Formats: sequence, C-alpha cells, structure tokens
Amino acid sequence: SQTREYWFDIGESAGSPDGFERQIYTVNNQFPGPKIEINEGDEVIVHVTNHLEEGQSIHWHGLNQNGTVLMDGIAGVTQCPIPPGKTFTYKFRPQGQYGNFWWHSHYGNTMADGIIGPFIIHSVRDPIVRGRDYDEEQIVILHDWQHDRADVVTGAQTGPGGYRGTLASPEPDAILINGVGRTNCTGTSIQYHAPCYDPPYAEIKVKPNKKYRLRLENMGTHALVRTSIDEHEYEVVDADGVPVYGPTTHEIPIASAQRYSVLIKTDKGKAGDSFWIRAAPGVACELGERKDPGLAILRYVDEHDKGGHDDPTSQPWHDLAPWDAQCVDLDQEHPLVPRNVRDAYEDPLDVHVMSSNFGAFVKPDGTVDLAFGFNNVTWRPRLFNPLLQQLENGGTVPPDTAASATFWDDGPGIIIINNLDPGPLGHPYHLHGNDFQLLARGQGSMTAEAFASWGYLKENPLRRDSFFVPGSSWAALRILTNNPGVWALHCHIGWHLSTGKLATIVVQPETIKGFEQPYDWTNLCAGQDTSAIGPS
Ligand code: C2O
Repeated sequence: SQTREYWFDIGESAGSPDGFERQIYTVNNQFPGPKIEINEGDEVIVHVTNHLEEGQSIHWHGLNQNGTVLMDGIAGVTQCPIPPGKTFTYKFRPQGQYGNFWWHSHYGNTMADGIIGPFIIHSVRDPIVRGRDYDEEQIVILHDWQHDRADVVTGAQTGPGGYRGTLASPEPDAILINGVGRTNCTGTSIQYHAPCYDPPYAEIKVKPNKKYRLRLENMGTHALVRTSIDEHEYEVVDADGVPVYGPTTHEIPIASAQRYSVLIKTDKGKAGDSFWIRAAPGVACELGERKDPGLAILRYVDEHDKGGHDDPTSQPWHDLAPWDAQCVDLDQEHPLVPRNVRDAYEDPLDVHVMSSNFGAFVKPDGTVDLAFGFNNVTWRPRLFNPLLQQLENGGTVPPDTAASATFWDDGPGIIIINNLDPGPLGHPYHLHGNDFQLLARGQGSMTAEAFASWGYLKENPLRRDSFFVPGSSWAALRILTNNPGVWALHCHIGWHLSTGKLATIVVQPETIKGFEQPYDWTNLCAGQDTSAIGPS
C-alpha cells in the first residue's frame, strides 16, 4: 500500500455552473472539487486549508473510519471547525471498503455552496473487475443547485413565509451533471435582475462497442434524481460501496448522498452519435411527474476522441423519457442483493428508536424554533466543544445538544428510524461509521417492543450507508457496534441537516475514553467559546 497525500485549499470565487453567476465555494479552484482515488489499504493524508471567512470541516462520506473517528470531519461532533486561515490535516487508512464514496463539507450546509468531490477506492477484492466486466469507467456526479448561498436559504426556509414560499424544502434551480447544467434563465433574470445564459452541456465520452462502469453519485443537497440514458440500460452492480446483484433497468432513482455503479453497453451507435443523460428531480419512481431534467450528453467518439458536436435529436424537455421508461426503485423493493454475504441472525443486544419530525422545538431559553429534530431534540451544536471530546473526558452527549442512543458493548444493535413527517416529506437518512443492514420497513411508526416479534429479513439483507425513508414510515437498521465513536445519524438534505435533523449514535463509550487527543485537536479548539451555539 501507498501513502496518498493531497492538499485542499478551500476558497471562494464567482462561478456560473448553470449559466447564472454567483459566489461559489471551491477546492483548489475546482467545482466539483478534486477527485481522491486510492487503492484499498492506502493511507490518505489531506491537508485542508481554509481560506474562507467562516469555519470549515471535511467529511469522507461512507468511510467507516474504523479506529479513527477523530478524522470523521463533523464540526461540533468530532472536531472544532477549521478556523479561517488555518490548516487541519486529516489522516486515515480506509480498510475493508472499496467502491464509490465522496467527500463534502460538514459545516452548516456549505456543501451546497460547492465543497464536494468524489472519493473512489479500487480493490483487488472488488468482484466487479475491469477488463472482464467492463472496459473503462467514468464518474457521473449528479447534483442539485441553488442560486442563493446556503446560509441565505437556510435562514429563510423556517422564517416567516419560508424560502420562496416553501417551508423546509426549497426547489432546486437546476440539476447539474458533472458540475454543469441549465436553469430557467427567464425566471432567473427577472428574479435576480442579473444576466443568465445556457452553458454547453457536460459530455461523457465513450467508445462504441465497449462496456463502461458509470459511477453515479448524488452529491446534491436535496433532490432525489431519477437518472437514465436514452436507449441504454443500466445494470446495477454496487450500492454505496457494497457490491450487489442488481436489476438491469432503464431508470433508477438516487437519493441525496447515495451512489451506484452501473454497467452500460455502448452498442447503440457509432462515433458521432449522441444520447441524452437525464437526471430528473423527483420523489421516487412511482410518485409525481418527472420535472424538467438536468441533461448531459453521452457522446460516442472514435479512437482519437472525436465525435462531432451535435446535440441528441430526441426531445430533451419532456415529461417522459423517449422510450418506455421502466424505473426500479432500489430503496423500496429489495432488488439489490449483496455479493458478499453478511447474515443478520444474531439477536440484537439493544434496540433504539429514533423518531424524527419537522415541527416546533422549545429552545433552552423557553422560546420556540421551527426546526427538524430526533426524539424531540433539535441539533444545536456547540462547535468548539465537540461531542467526541466530551466523551473522551468521560462525559455524555448533552441532552439539549442532540438526541443520542448509546450502544455500550461490541455486538449487533438495531436502530429504528421513524419518519413522522407526512407524505411528501421523505428523507434520505445517513449513518456515519457503519454500513448498516436494512432489515425491514413499513408504514406508520415502529416501537422496540413491536419490533421484537417482527419478522425481518435474516438472510443477507442489503447493506448501504444512505437510505430513503418515505413520509409516515419506518425503517430498521442493524449495525455492528464494533467501531467505537460518536457517529452522526442525519438527514442528508442539507437544508434539514442545517435545521437540526441530526442525532448521535454513541458506540462503546468506555473505549472512547482511552482515545488520544492529537495536537491538532487542542490547537483547533484552543481559546474558543465552548458554550456558543453555531450553525449545525
Ligand atoms: Cu455525507 Cu454526515 O454526511
């Protein structure tokens, strides 16, 4: 194995990914940010320098950080924010994981301002083999985009009138594919009194008569997208870094934070032909009309990378894909079977229920906030008094900071998530530090007592790290509590996360007490007001 060293400079500049110019956050002047690409077992060192005027932190989404919870990168949970002008070095060695991951800011919702990028891990153990199962690979980043800065949207969405008239769920202004998209320029120019244009579409170049592995990653802040490529079928072969036997289908939905590898055959044309890649914001396969999709072009090229400049001839803005669009809802029907078996037979040591909703939350001073939360607590981070530090010192998660559940011993445990929000308010939940098994789900809500006699799937249930729970329904996740730490469980809709929809799962608190506090920790937190409440 090797050491892979990266330098991330977080900065700010003007950018117009969808044709409308605004201030965006960048890493090394790139948007989306640089790709991290390693082999399993490599040591990763990332020196992150913050050139912004606000704090920052970077999280490595989907990496379990076994033994290195301190590198998990959530401001207020595992570290103090990196102050303006300062550098923090992340160092970890991903073991036992390979496939498609990503990294993003975990400070407020500044990932929505552009601090995102792919993190790919190759492994000789990956059952999807280059040269046998596919010839080449491409990363396809799907990503919703907003014309206002994240702090503006977050501030407005729970205030009087909401953001553009909606509470808690702003509509995206565009869907970007590999960082490029188009918006409704007429509406935008009127609203912002600012110029707007139609940028050229992003292109994915492929050679005819080959097999490609597309690494589809939803790095969006909100929208679930239904993605398809005209005339090409997807064979789904991994989900959130777990190799699976999956269906071959025309269209799949991908919730915020989820990833899939799909194999496609480029046998639908010759060099010069082009096809629409579509990413339509939606709720799920069955629900709702497809809205105007984000578009990119799959372009067939020759061996010199040449393939013409024409747009595809099929109708781009259309309510339906141009061919019979069958959509398999990969979160709803158990169509994915892990290739590496992990059964769920052992009796769980402990069952914890996490119920979450949007509503009125009483602040410590008695006033009321419209916010999201778990078990009646909305996440109010004390940024400079991170929970991990408190646990290392023998404390607990303060009950007015975040809801928490504790698994004391090493053994399997179960977390039941109740989504108490009604119908359209489905949420993509993400758990740090674990690829959980999805044991069961249902309508309404579930209790620990009722679940004890619930017949759940014991044979090789799907594992993943992000999962969509529709409104008024529940899901039961089984975790292995062999990774001591304080792990966030949260909604990956950035607007909801930054409005308090985060709880913590404490694993083996006695072991955490023995963890060392590295120099950087003391340095980052020194002299800061430990009682101040910051952006979540
Ligand atoms: Cu993608 Cu808490 O993170």
